[in-house]
Amino acid sequence: MRTHTLANGITIPLVGTGTNTYGKVDNSYNGELNNDFSALESAIEAGYRLIDTAIYYRNESGVGQTIKDSGIAREEFYLTTKIPETEEYVGSKELVKQTILKSLDNLKVDYIDLYLIHKPIENKEMLKNTWEVLESFVDSGKIKSIGVSNFTLEQLEEMKSFARIKPVVNQIESNPSNWNNDLIDYLQKNDILPEAWGPLSKVTDEQQTILTKIGDKYGKNWGQVLLRYQIQRGVAVIPKSHNQKRQMLNLDLVNFNLSPEDIHIIKTL
Ligand SMILES: NC(=O)c1ccc[n+]([C@@H]2O[C@H](COP(=O)([O-])OP(=O)(O)OC[C@H]3O[C@@H](n4cnc5c(N)ncnc54)[C@H](OP(=O)(O)O)[C@@H]3O)[C@@H](O)[C@H]2O)c1
Repeated sequence: MRTHTLANGITIPLVGTGTNTYGKVDNSYNGELNNDFSALESAIEAGYRLIDTAIYYRNESGVGQTIKDSGIAREEFYLTTKIPETEEYVGSKELVKQTILKSLDNLKVDYIDLYLIHKPIENKEMLKNTWEVLESFVDSGKIKSIGVSNFTLEQLEEMKSFARIKPVVNQIESNPSNWNNDLIDYLQKNDILPEAWGPLSKVTDEQQTILTKIGDKYGKNWGQVLLRYQIQRGVAVIPKSHNQKRQMLNLDLVNFNLSPEDIHIIKTL
């Protein structure tokens, strides 16, 4: 498994699984919970150890139970969850604290590897307060690393004025419809790991044809080409599939290297 060493010295896998539709009717984001975590079981069986959930996904508890039931040691997993940016969760320091304690409880773990703020908190005071609580959980060892998601360059610059512990990850959209390259450049210059959500989303038929043609040279499919492109440039990915064959393909990214010519084609899709 390819890994990256974060600014705080902790190692994170560069490939993980998303979970935003796991445990839900019709594999639908807004679907009712049905406690069917077979897709996560199969992802774990396929070898995924970084698991990305969030309070917004409503499935922390089932994700935690599935990990526990796998019988694999806790330390082998890298668990990410995220606090929503709304007042209900970040309106006061006490609320933030209670939210994090609930995540620990739901996930059934003593510590969480990475805790992110899911979306920018526009209120400066609330952002600062939330960050301070997250920092206090790092101090106590209940959270190993803290970061953000969907933050802009400007919002990250602003955090520098108060963050005692700097964010080590920014989870952002990155796919051929929205590479987010300027932000990725900034993140990498500032030693913040970019982690791509929706890495296989919004790929047009035309883009798929071009990627498939590149993949043919390496014996890989279009999805593997896209994911390999991201990890080869140091961007982590959290693809999600309900299909074990695709889960396995998305993890099989280490035995090929995209050529500079192919990288150029992908960059300019
Ligand atoms: N921080 C945020 O704001 C945010 C936003 C969105 C998502 N996320 C996180 O990022 C994760 C990934 O994003 P995502 O789930 O939206 O989309 P994704 O990983 O881009 O996957 C999109 C779809 O592609 C299909 N797929 C997967 N592997 C494939 C392959 N090898 N070939 C062809 N199709 C393939 C899957 O359908 P099948 O099931 O049919 O394979 C899946 O529904 C989420 O699960 C979530 O954890 C975070």
